[in-house]
Amino acid sequence: MVTAVAYRLAKQQKMREEILSAFLLRDEQLLEVKKRMRMQMERGLKKETHSAAAVKMLATYVRSTPDRTEKGDFLALDLGGTNFRVLMVKIWSGKCRAVEMHNKIYAIPMDAMEGTGEELFDHIVHCISDFLEYMGMKDCVLPLGFTFSFPCEQRKLDQDILLKWTRGFKATGCEGEDVVDLLREAIRRRGEFELDVVAIVNDTIGTMTSCGYDDPFCEVGLIVGTGCNAGYMEVMKNVEMVEGDEGRMCINMEWGAFGDDGCLDDVRTEFDRDVDQLSLNPGKQRYEKMISGMYLGEIVCNILISFTKRGLLFRGKISERLKTRGIFETKFLSHIESDWLALLQLRAIFQQLGLQSTCDDSIIVKEVCGVVSRLAAQLCGAGMAAVVDKIRENRNLEHIKVNVGIIGTLYKLHPHFSTVIHQTVERLAPKCLVSFVQSEDGSGKGAALITAVACRIREAGQH
Ligand code: GLC
Repeated sequence: MVTAVAYRLAKQQKMREEILSAFLLRDEQLLEVKKRMRMQMERGLKKETHSAAAVKMLATYVRSTPDRTEKGDFLALDLGGTNFRVLMVKIWSGKCRAVEMHNKIYAIPMDAMEGTGEELFDHIVHCISDFLEYMGMKDCVLPLGFTFSFPCEQRKLDQDILLKWTRGFKATGCEGEDVVDLLREAIRRRGEFELDVVAIVNDTIGTMTSCGYDDPFCEVGLIVGTGCNAGYMEVMKNVEMVEGDEGRMCINMEWGAFGDDGCLDDVRTEFDRDVDQLSLNPGKQRYEKMISGMYLGEIVCNILISFTKRGLLFRGKISERLKTRGIFETKFLSHIESDWLALLQLRAIFQQLGLQSTCDDSIIVKEVCGVVSRLAAQLCGAGMAAVVDKIRENRNLEHIKVNVGIIGTLYKLHPHFSTVIHQTVERLAPKCLVSFVQSEDGSGKGAALITAVACRIREAGQH
């Protein structure tokens, strides 16, 4: 009897290991991912291959970083994740160089995310109006920097054509339109205040600039939150889509789309494919869907359902709640993997999901979360290794020190995610000494700084 039970348990363990083995990549495979990212970067940068490239490597027209003589009051907007932030950023130059920020966070209701573009931008302007009222600044025409974190084709610092929505947004009538126009029109419709829209930037670039203000070695921005993307300073002679060979320009890589041409199919698991198929944008943003906070919970949930169906978990009984899309939030992953969380608390989480669990179930779920988040962090590290090595090669250096400005809840809150990224970059790009600097101020500060630089240059041109 005992032997029969032991045999069954061992067999179940083996079945689970077999399923999870798809999530264990060796360093050679990760190096291959790095190599493919590098190839995709070249394709996105080159004129000949740009239009068909999955990783778009978008030019941003941000060429100069702050020289710290910037000063003034700026308004910044930050739209991308689940919230919308409006910020007032005061910058002082000279001896008392400092940046002071005030901000308010507003929710973007589902109706606005999935309704018409007019509704979405009217909501945005409604939030700005509330904020200006709160700050008592409705009468000043403030220069504005807009962090708009979606793939856009930038034509000028204040002209940005939305290519496609990502991460749950799908407001109609916006794709193919200039986002700055949509904002200016909404401000005009409201007719309550005026703003001088100067710059629109991606959050990767905002983050890089925000960290770069205090740290001259920071030339990469990385986001690992609801979405995942990176940006960095590229030398102009490699940016074939923009005229001119002098200097450098920030590139918004839009690396979330890595793999959309099928080049990651050998590392995607059946669970990644399922999550992709059921998402709002099937076939798109495949790399992002393997890494970012919006999807990791879904991947774990699909594995748990598959285990349960095979009788390997929860005594083979699935609850209806577990089958609900989005029920297993990525923040559970962070909780589950945190050492402080006793297995008892885990059982409370399962109870909320209508599942009767045993202690063994908790251990299994913790293992699943560990495997999924580890691979996500390794994949992200492999991509980052490609970026820092390219920066090194651009400069013809044997070794280089690069700092990466980073924001995102997954990076910040998950107990192991950041360590795995660091270790992966260290192994896959051994000639680069990479430090990760967490930006506490978010990308809005960067948008304000980019606006301040543009205002400084504009004023210098007028004199
Ligand atoms: C998505 C967006 C990208 C953004 C990233 C992180 O990938 O397409 O523009 O930078 O999320 O927020």
